[in-house]
Amino acid sequence: MEKLIINGGRPLFGDIDINGAKNAAVAIIPAAIMASEGICVIDNIPDIEDVNCIERIVENLGCTVKRTKNSLVIDSTLLNKFSACTEDVRKMRASYYLIGALLGRFKEARVELPGGCPIGVRPIDQHIKGFEALGAKVKIEHGSVIVKAEKLIGANVFFDVVSVGATINVMLAATLAEGVTILENPAREPHVVDVANFLNSMGANIKGAGTDVIRITGVDKLKGCNYSVIPDQIEAGTYMIAAAACGGEVAIKNVIPKHLESISAKLTEMGAEVIEEDDAVIVKSKGRLKGVNIKTSPYPGFPTDVQQPMCTLLAIAEGRSIINESIWESRFKHVDELKKMGASVKVEGRTAIIDGVNKLTGAVVKATDLRAGAAMVIAGLIAEGKTEIENIEHIDRGYPNIESKFKQLGASIMRETCEE
Ligand code: EPU
Repeated sequence: MEKLIINGGRPLFGDIDINGAKNAAVAIIPAAIMASEGICVIDNIPDIEDVNCIERIVENLGCTVKRTKNSLVIDSTLLNKFSACTEDVRKMRASYYLIGALLGRFKEARVELPGGCPIGVRPIDQHIKGFEALGAKVKIEHGSVIVKAEKLIGANVFFDVVSVGATINVMLAATLAEGVTILENPAREPHVVDVANFLNSMGANIKGAGTDVIRITGVDKLKGCNYSVIPDQIEAGTYMIAAAACGGEVAIKNVIPKHLESISAKLTEMGAEVIEEDDAVIVKSKGRLKGVNIKTSPYPGFPTDVQQPMCTLLAIAEGRSIINESIWESRFKHVDELKKMGASVKVEGRTAIIDGVNKLTGAVVKATDLRAGAAMVIAGLIAEGKTEIENIEHIDRGYPNIESKFKQLGASIMRETCEE
């Protein structure tokens, strides 16, 4: 067990590099197992626990995986198992991408139901609807999703809700179906586009990812390729918010500024200065920022995954701010922790009403989930005195080297081993 110790109150100055996107990498790795010829060399892989977990899962299925610091080499040519039922599969959300990948490649899959952050009910009905439209029979038995098809045939799928997971999962299976699949009302997140680009590099024929309609013309097989994962929009957004909260000037490098526009716009509305360069954003902030209202929504809207870090910033902004969390029903677990540090936040259903306070004060708090953990790190950085954050295994699932990156910016933050 480890914890983070932060002595708050220092402004942040300097620059940091953003790593590859977690939510792209954890989909691209399952996609890579669809290659029946050649090897996939995937660069810009973030060094995080969720990647380690999905890497173990695909190794367990029979793929050969070699890891260097930032890249993965996956050979799935000898893969012949279509059942993934281990603790790792149960632990993480993205393991559900194995259903689409194995169904595409073998027309059959048995995958245990996924875990992930406790942020509300996380149904997979839209994934199932898509698989069934392609001709698969789907049942859930003994905690596993079992899918099987004589053959997969392209179909029209209209998603009832905008779902990143369902869009990617059905896209995976449809890539190796016969004929054309049209996905309507798909998610348009940058990582959806990245997975489509990766599949196209493997020989797939996917058009329209990132728009309202995705058209997939099935191909017979996929082969290995070389690919580099896009930068992490959410990691970048978290550091942008930290810079705005602590004050100072931070250049966040190796990003795609367009992916960050909704966050840049909110920080600007609050009174911070955000300068966009080709592959960097610079956030400058001094003095107290103004409160704003936020509604999370699918891309290009304000991402739910930075709502929790943003809540910390709003906790010390001037005046009242209102957050409406429209994606997840229970993504305010960080609020009780923030209150221990003096924040004034009231949660009513999916709404948080935040009355900005002058300062937060250090306390012993915990990371209740991944992004709640990031919210607590930012809280610790701005608070007066010492903050201890427990349960940081959640943070390690998604943020590479978080304490060394903040140290590089001048923060006083360190990791300590603690007794259970
Ligand atoms: N939904 C359904 N039915 C489905 C699928 C989703 O009703 O079959 C609903 C969900 O309940 C939710 C909404 O649709 O209300 C959006 O869910 P989505 O499927 O888009 O979420 P996900 O694929 O499970 C991914 C990210 C999450 C991120 C969401 C939204 C991964 C591994 N996870 O989850 O990331 O919050 O998209 O952008 O890609 C995180 O990184 O901290 C994280 C939680």
